[in-house]
Amino acid sequence: MLSIYAGVDLIRSWNKHGWLERQFTAGAKIARLVGGGDKNIIVSDATSVNLFKLLVAAMKLRPGRTVVLSERGNFPTDIYIIQGILDQMDNSHQLKLVQTDCILSELQCEASSSIAVVCLTHVNFKTGSMHDMAALTAAAHACGALILWDLSHSAGAVELDLLGADVDFAVGCGYKYLNGGPGAPSFLFVHPRLQHASRSPLTGCYKVGWATSGRSTFPKCFSLLTAWVGLPAELHRY
Ligand SMILES: Cc1ncc(COP(=O)(O)O)c(C=O)c1O
Repeated sequence: MLSIYAGVDLIRSWNKHGWLERQFTAGAKIARLVGGGDKNIIVSDATSVNLFKLLVAAMKLRPGRTVVLSERGNFPTDIYIIQGILDQMDNSHQLKLVQTDCILSELQCEASSSIAVVCLTHVNFKTGSMHDMAALTAAAHACGALILWDLSHSAGAVELDLLGADVDFAVGCGYKYLNGGPGAPSFLFVHPRLQHASRSPLTGCYKVGWATSGRSTFPKCFSLLTAWVGLPAELHRY
């Protein structure tokens, strides 16, 4: 198949071999593993880039709230991405890092009304400990916050039910338990109730041009999901 792309169809493969749809067809396969439902997952970009996109989108959905809550032992890249976003916002928001066993109480205390987004990795890369996704998601919602889960160490390894747990946003890498190999792109999930309202801060031509010009078959309602930044390099692996 790769030689057809390289030697024969070249860039016509965008249409002829369905390159444009692969974000969705690969996403649908992953959705079966993580309980993501139909059309709520795309495969695109790197985990860090997807985290950036979804965290900014989530923060915009909670204007007036100024805290991103995470845990001290979270994956370092995730913390760097959060800090990078907050740097761009001239310190109008702050990152609150708490111990793992304090997350729930943080979500239940009076100050929780300032939390915009909770950003956690489901299975810890160092300890292997796993959060109660449904309980923390419910607690985040109870205080009016949104939640973004990083599934890099759980997708393909443990049972997941994103829709059942009512998760708002999730990302995960393709090269660990999904076995995508080196260069495999990441995936992102957006709950259907948030897809119309969410806007990615990184809008490529996939969203702005083709999605509105009738040149593609993209579902137009997926305002966020059509916002991948560039064609992932290694989608043939999925
Ligand atoms: C939990 C977690 N988050 C984020 C990342 C960063 O992934 P990427 O290199 O795809 O941005 C990793 C990579 O190992 C990870 O394990």
